[in-house]
Amino acid sequence: MDLKTHLDAPRARRRVGRLELLGLLAVLLASNFAFGFFYQTQRFTKLPLHSESTLARCRALGVKPGPAPSFHLRTQSDRFQPGTPAVLVKNATIWTGRVDGLEVLKGDIFLDGGIIVAVGVVKKSLLDQHKHDIVDAQGAWVTPGIVDVHSHLAVESTPALTGAGDGNSLKGLVLPFLRSLDAMNTHDDGFALAVAGGITTSLILPGSADAMGGQGFVIKLRPTKERSSSALLLEPPFGLNGSDLDYNIPPRWRHMKHACGENPARVYAGTRMDTVWSVRKAYDEARKMKNLQDKYCEKALTGQWASLGEFPSELALEALVDVLRGKFKVQTHCYEAVDIDAFIRMSNEFQFPVAAFHHAHESYLVPEVLKRGYEHPPASAIFASFSRYKREAYRHSEFAARILADNGLKVIMKSDHPAIVSRYLVHEAQQAHYHGLSTNLALASVTSTPSETLGLDHRIGFVKPGYDADIVLWDSHPLALGATPSQVFIDGIPQLANPHVSTKPASQQSAPKTPNFDKEIKDTIKYEGLPPLEAATQTSGAVLFRNISTFWTRGDFGIRIAEDADNVLVKDGVIVWTGPDVELTSASIDGALIVDLQGGSVSPALVSAGSMMGLQEIAMEQSTTDGGVFDPLSMEIPTVLGEQTVIRAVDGLQFGTRDALLAYRDGVASAITAPNGYGMFQGLSVSFSLGSRNKLEKGAVLQEIAGIHVSLSLELPSSVSTQIATLRRLLLQPPKDEHGLELQQVSRGSLPLVVTVHSADVIANLLLLKQEVETKVGKTMEMTLLGATEAHLLAPEIAAAGVGIILSPPRSFPYTWEQRRILAGPPLTAQSSAAWLAAHNITVGLGPQGVNAMAPMSNWAVRNLRFDMAWVALESGGSISKEVALSMASSNIETLLGVRSGASSEFAVTRGGDLFSLDAKVIAMVSAKRGVVDLF
Ligand SMILES: *[C@@H]1O[C@H](CO)[C@@H](O)[C@H](O)[C@H]1NC(C)=O
Ligand SMILES: *[C@@H]1O[C@H](CO)[C@@H](O)[C@H](O)[C@H]1NC(C)=O
Ligand SMILES: *[C@@H]1O[C@H](CO)[C@@H](O)[C@H](O)[C@H]1NC(C)=O
Ligand SMILES: *[C@@H]1O[C@H](CO)[C@@H](O)[C@H](O)[C@H]1NC(C)=O
Repeated sequence: MDLKTHLDAPRARRRVGRLELLGLLAVLLASNFAFGFFYQTQRFTKLPLHSESTLARCRALGVKPGPAPSFHLRTQSDRFQPGTPAVLVKNATIWTGRVDGLEVLKGDIFLDGGIIVAVGVVKKSLLDQHKHDIVDAQGAWVTPGIVDVHSHLAVESTPALTGAGDGNSLKGLVLPFLRSLDAMNTHDDGFALAVAGGITTSLILPGSADAMGGQGFVIKLRPTKERSSSALLLEPPFGLNGSDLDYNIPPRWRHMKHACGENPARVYAGTRMDTVWSVRKAYDEARKMKNLQDKYCEKALTGQWASLGEFPSELALEALVDVLRGKFKVQTHCYEAVDIDAFIRMSNEFQFPVAAFHHAHESYLVPEVLKRGYEHPPASAIFASFSRYKREAYRHSEFAARILADNGLKVIMKSDHPAIVSRYLVHEAQQAHYHGLSTNLALASVTSTPSETLGLDHRIGFVKPGYDADIVLWDSHPLALGATPSQVFIDGIPQLANPHVSTKPASQQSAPKTPNFDKEIKDTIKYEGLPPLEAATQTSGAVLFRNISTFWTRGDFGIRIAEDADNVLVKDGVIVWTGPDVELTSASIDGALIVDLQGGSVSPALVSAGSMMGLQEIAMEQSTTDGGVFDPLSMEIPTVLGEQTVIRAVDGLQFGTRDALLAYRDGVASAITAPNGYGMFQGLSVSFSLGSRNKLEKGAVLQEIAGIHVSLSLELPSSVSTQIATLRRLLLQPPKDEHGLELQQVSRGSLPLVVTVHSADVIANLLLLKQEVETKVGKTMEMTLLGATEAHLLAPEIAAAGVGIILSPPRSFPYTWEQRRILAGPPLTAQSSAAWLAAHNITVGLGPQGVNAMAPMSNWAVRNLRFDMAWVALESGGSISKEVALSMASSNIETLLGVRSGASSEFAVTRGGDLFSLDAKVIAMVSAKRGVVDLF
């Protein structure tokens, strides 16, 4: 059924209106009516030629966007692809999104004509009537397709090339007339990856460089037969191509991107005051235009055509006038309380509602301001943990989602793809759930709530008859860590041709029983987002951990489970005894602080590498960072420094940064950090404790020099061949003085050379160079590749060369050209990169899942290392044991980066489950190096 037949009801109503008007005209023109309406109006009232369409336009001014009332009677989607077979999904556990997200049905789903025809019990007669395919879900979870309200897919496409970075126009602060649709690259590698994560619909927004960056468009992510950008659109506004504008049917929602705060202010070298003024000025002009139109229509609708002229309009103001008429969903990038307050004030001044604040890092701190929103409080579309990269994001809280929900405010998790890779949007919901958001709201935060915020909850975001046939079958509960789609339907079309599904443990088939964070949440509010993160108790006294489910130890033969270790006794931060309950003697526990772990674990503490941990507090605030290291290949080195000086990260260490303390509270005891290089050279890395308060404390610095770090990249100012030549010269002819000491050690194999590199071609060059140096020097070099996105292509050769890998990020994404050949992992490939490399007997460590593998933008992600290692184990289908995954996040990293006497004595202690589980919370860290136990 097409849209027009569905609009009969409203049209009929409107016809009455028109008839009344005609009646009025008839009275006015009574004596001449018999001559015919058109002739008479021309002759006697100068009714303009366009009068009919103008009147229709005037009548439509106040009509709010939305589906026609009969929309749900449709039997076929406007996006139906002819030839698509009907599908019966049998035996599913269906989270429908209905009843506040609390409804779960066991049953079947029937998809036909691009829509969901039946849910739960599917009538046999229906099945008999329609030829259909059958998918047996075998009880698996099914959800609506995931909806991403904030994506730059296709406008900031991957791999990133200067020819395809179309997200931000820099032609002015206020550009409401720009349209993301005009820049949508259908060849973005991100499409298929996002679909593999269950994303079916995204709002594609312009960037945030401008106060008004332009209009966003909603798309479905499946490939289309037409292959055009237009064919991706879901309910695009009418009239885009000038030919389908009909004032007699309700308009569709449009989306306007606004941005507050730092971005526009910095891009235009202005202030927040300038940004807000630019917006108010624009809305003032739009309001004048709106008033002109309203006056015009008042006259036109009462037949006062004399000297009325044309309908007043201006293309540049058209969109803003529609915002003022309530026809836009205003999507506003806004972080801080100051910006949220200003925007809410302004939206009340100009009387338009705000659909959502995006990023909204401080919205949880000002719920009352949100509640003052014009017409309704805006939703908050937030990140789970991506934060502190700039001042605006400094007060971010992992508990924001929960706090907003407690205030009755709407919460959406969003990707800002590729900031967070859209494919992993459900992981944002998992983290929000872990930190206190209820199961129903966490699932809603990526399905029904975003669909409401987009004005599309009449067709997406729910598993409900009449809705678009966009559903995801999962290999586990969607809020379980590592949940992966086993099939994704968009418009009823299965998107995964040959899905690789790993068998997940039964424990993953229900929502995690997440820990209690009530105290943390209370403190977060009390301290306005900056609660103290230091341990509540630090003791060198005896601590007895009881009721342990697993005790993993770390020894010469790797990480293994210790038997019968129900209890662990610690003194001076050293584990002095472990054993079963029967061996507990009152003497051994006398005076000890007793801590019940309720089935928790004691495991080697995690070790982080590949971030800027310890060298910065806020990545984008230079005054909070150590700064960058001069690149001799593209910069002039100050003579006072000397060309050959190798920079040491240990000299720039800062302790007690929030990212360090948060990572520590989540089980990461130490980090190995190299200086931040502007070019090929970084310098000497340091291993240090994240829980220490200053450098002079016992055990703060674990190893002053770990390895020497360089970067080889196609992205640097110098050529790759120059970089290789430089490395060859330095390794074969290291300076003979003290400055060459470390380089001599590298050639002789006593200091690892750590190379940040992604391209398989550059890796091949490095392997050859290693061989060349070893042949000439006669010693075996230690080499580790960091990043290594394309390493899987050379796995046997890397293994043969004895080279190790720190995979960073652990879940690859083709951010750049030199990272474009990824091993995508399930459901797209059988193995993940980490599992593939490990299967080739390469020593693998895991770096942070930060932004674009850029160390300066990764500190926030270090705390998630335990989730990342668990994910590697979960998606390996059993080939990566928990012990191996733990090594990847601890001992392997130290081995690969030259830390000889590192954190083997440091332990992470969890309650409620082991370190791999979303049921568990890290409640203590045990540090022999520092001689203490920290209890949180
Ligand atoms: C649904 O799948 C589950 C899990 O495989 C199975 O135990 C159950 O018998 C199935 N139910 C039906 C009705 O097929
Ligand atoms: C304009 O867009 C409408 C809706 O997508 C479509 O039906 C129509 O064919 C298009 N017309 C032209 C000339 O492209
Ligand atoms: C150990 O923890 C489990 C899980 O919380 C609990 O059921 C059990 O009672 C505890 N056992 C002891 C001996 O405290
Ligand atoms: C990895 O090592 C194991 C044990 O030494 C061996 O059996 C296996 O063949 C090796 N795999 C590869 C790909 O070399």
